[in-house]
Amino acid sequence: MRNFTFYNPTKIIFGAEREADFAREVAKLGKKALVVTGGGSVKRNGIFDTIVEALKDADVAIVEESGISPNPRLNEVKDGIRIARQENVDVILAIGGGSTIDAAKLMAVGVPTDAEPWDIVLGKVKPERALPLATVLTLAATGSEMDPSSVITNLETQEKYGWGSPLVYPAVSLENPAFTTTVNAWHTAAGTADIMSHVMEQYFTLDDRAYVADSLAEGILRTAIHFGPVAIAEPDDLEARGNLMWASSLALNGLLSIGKDYPWSVHDMEHELSAKYDITHGVGLAILTPHWLNHVLNKKTAPRIARFARNVFGIQEADDVACAKAGIEALSAFFASLHIPMHLKDVDIDESRLEEMAEDLANYRHGVIDGFQPLHKEDILAIYKAAL
Ligand code: NZQ
Ligand code: ZN
Repeated sequence: MRNFTFYNPTKIIFGAEREADFAREVAKLGKKALVVTGGGSVKRNGIFDTIVEALKDADVAIVEESGISPNPRLNEVKDGIRIARQENVDVILAIGGGSTIDAAKLMAVGVPTDAEPWDIVLGKVKPERALPLATVLTLAATGSEMDPSSVITNLETQEKYGWGSPLVYPAVSLENPAFTTTVNAWHTAAGTADIMSHVMEQYFTLDDRAYVADSLAEGILRTAIHFGPVAIAEPDDLEARGNLMWASSLALNGLLSIGKDYPWSVHDMEHELSAKYDITHGVGLAILTPHWLNHVLNKKTAPRIARFARNVFGIQEADDVACAKAGIEALSAFFASLHIPMHLKDVDIDESRLEEMAEDLANYRHGVIDGFQPLHKEDILAIYKAAL
């Protein structure tokens, strides 16, 4: 194993009827919160009222910022920063999925600085201070509830990029599985694919030194494969919802990348799609991942993909290349079984901008995605074309 330092300061409060415990933690962070929400789901299903009530009992005043879009936009973040300053809030509290939490993270570092928020996303400015952040997770997917990352879309430039800072680890996150029972089949499927993709991005490496992390990864993949279909068939199944929720957090809280290289490949390719076509992130990942694996399959990568096929899908095949191919097919069939459309054209993406997206991404990555296998512009384009 490589040397490592593990740090994750997020306190997770998991389970039913823990709102009061959560509100008490928020009260320790500040007395006035900017409550950030999305397009209205949390108002319709009562989560907002439940949390606000608990905050009131804990003497935390609130100001609201609603309307954060899926693939959250820079201008929405700027709105939140303006209100937070105007109202002099001392904590940011996101109630929602990854989009709402990610927007809240950029608000948290954006409030105490004069720097342009987009410059923080681009890495031109390193945030030095942040308001404390609390989250109430309502969709199992991104891991944002327990990670230091955020992904923001700039509509003007049609760019979508991730950024991160240890300052935006949430101080506390509430995970009540019941809060995810109203997530529809589409987003439950996309969330399952996103969780799996986070695990696979860290798992698919030529670095074989981290048996613990790899075994945990396989267990989380099997968990998502087991419970994703259950949550879709039985939306109120709290066992399924709870396991997916915790899998979401474990997939990106740092544990799976301990002690090895963990090169990511597919996420940046997907972010190009959702930047230009505003598609659901997890759906884009499910479409691209099997084509990416087929593209990088060779003698060097086959043993690792075969290990995935054997330990995650139980494929019995002695030859590594044949086993790897069967594993990729099983992965694709699993995503299709969740009713995820498995072609780009099914989400209204045709070939007209594939070249432009491959070019933009290659430039953003200074010529190459140095992942499981290096991906240059031609490779990215070939993967997009195969996914059409
Ligand atoms: O906006 P509302 O009305 O709340 O509805 C949302 C939205 O339409 C709905 N939803 C959420 N919770 C619900 C619910 N509907 C019913 N009941 C509930 N309990 O679901 C829709 C999708 O929400 P969104 O937050 O966009 O989904 P997700 O959590 O998948 O977040 C996606 C965003 O996160 C980024 C993605 O790129 C994308 O922008 N990512 C963030 C990461 C991170 N911070 O570490 C890593 C990821 O790889 C990812 O890139
Ligand atoms: Zn993701």
